[in-house]
Amino acid sequence: MTRVFLAISLVSSVFLTFACVDKSGTGTVGPAGDTIKVGVYGDLTGQTSSFGQSTKNGIELAVEEINAAGGVNGKKIQLIIEDDQGRPEQAKTVVSKLINQDKVQAVLGEVASTNSLAAAPVAQEARIPMITPSSTNPKVTEVGDFISRVCFIDPFQGSVMAKFAANTLNAKTAAILGDVNSDYSKGLTQFFEQEFTKLGGRVLAKEAYTQTDPDFKGQLTKIRNLSPDVIYIPGYYGQVGIIAKQARELDMNMPLLGGDGWDSPEIWKLGGEALRNTFISNHYSAQNPAPEIQNFVRAYKAKFNVEPDSLAALAYDAAKVLADAISRAGGANDSVRLKDAINSTKNFAGVTGTITLDANRNAVKPAVVLELNPAAGAFQFKETIYPEGMAPPATASNTMPGNMNLNAMNSNSNMNSMPGSNMNAGSKANTNPAR
Ligand code: PHE
Repeated sequence: MTRVFLAISLVSSVFLTFACVDKSGTGTVGPAGDTIKVGVYGDLTGQTSSFGQSTKNGIELAVEEINAAGGVNGKKIQLIIEDDQGRPEQAKTVVSKLINQDKVQAVLGEVASTNSLAAAPVAQEARIPMITPSSTNPKVTEVGDFISRVCFIDPFQGSVMAKFAANTLNAKTAAILGDVNSDYSKGLTQFFEQEFTKLGGRVLAKEAYTQTDPDFKGQLTKIRNLSPDVIYIPGYYGQVGIIAKQARELDMNMPLLGGDGWDSPEIWKLGGEALRNTFISNHYSAQNPAPEIQNFVRAYKAKFNVEPDSLAALAYDAAKVLADAISRAGGANDSVRLKDAINSTKNFAGVTGTITLDANRNAVKPAVVLELNPAAGAFQFKETIYPEGMAPPATASNTMPGNMNLNAMNSNSNMNSMPGSNMNAGSKANTNPAR
């Protein structure tokens, strides 16, 4: 009896193994079930859990809409969601589980670049497409052709803040306080410094912290002694809120600058009033009056009772881009066709802007600069900065003479004369949040 059972299970597992591997050896052919299985992984309970929660919400909203409209090619999308607690080793483990055990046909995640970098090789090796909604470090998609993203990358994001510091705030000197264990933070430190220096600024000090540091006053005191015009803090909200508070306690009232990693409703509790006079680069502004954005904001608020941050918007876009690619690939069963369809995404109208993937599977999109307003608990739109070579859309508001003057006043000649890769920030528009 046992022997018969064993024999059957052996045969069936051999069969299953073959059923899952394309004979040509080029891709993975998934089970032809009646749903499309999509794996989602993120930090739902750790240091950056606000990132994972928003991402999960954004994906769930998108999938709810897709399924309500009949699914993709007649099949519903089924989400399988895993918590990696914000830990790189755990990210790798759960993505292995999603692919090998749950047999997902695509993976969405992670947020933190270090976690995406840990898990991406698993997806690449298994030839299962992975789209990260929001990891911005360039190395993530360099892992291979099954890995893509729907957001811009950090050479651009770093240059956006360097330009804002030099051109809009007229900063001549800066200090950088970064997280030594984060690929995201290390990348932005490098890219900000490169651009700020190119614009004639000087970086006076680079100080380091880790996510487990309880106190940042040592590093801040060193920076205070140098009196930089601004401090760039390319970290995540959990530390940044406390750093801002401790800086103000040390009477350091200069502008503090950051990136998308500050984006969390938690930051107001951690930083409070200390977040006055702080600015970040980000992927979208929930204040953008464009109807596509406001429809999304309304639907999200109705479902989750909170305003969607950029993680939620990017995650929503990533799920919709995936569904669009599945439909163009004629289904999700052939993973090579699916990754080719994802990688050829062009002019996809997302909430976070128009999504076109470049040859390196990165989206080329504008960024917004937002000012934190702790009294209102809101990120307020300041300006949109476009990548080199991308013209602002010719809408009535930014072609008006008044705006042209504003732009001319705030730009300096460096803005449009940089060596031409679209990784650098090009032009900006002061009136319309990015679309
Ligand atoms: N870009 C960050 C990273 O790569 C993640 C992030 C995106 C955080 C958007 C907040 C908002 O690590």
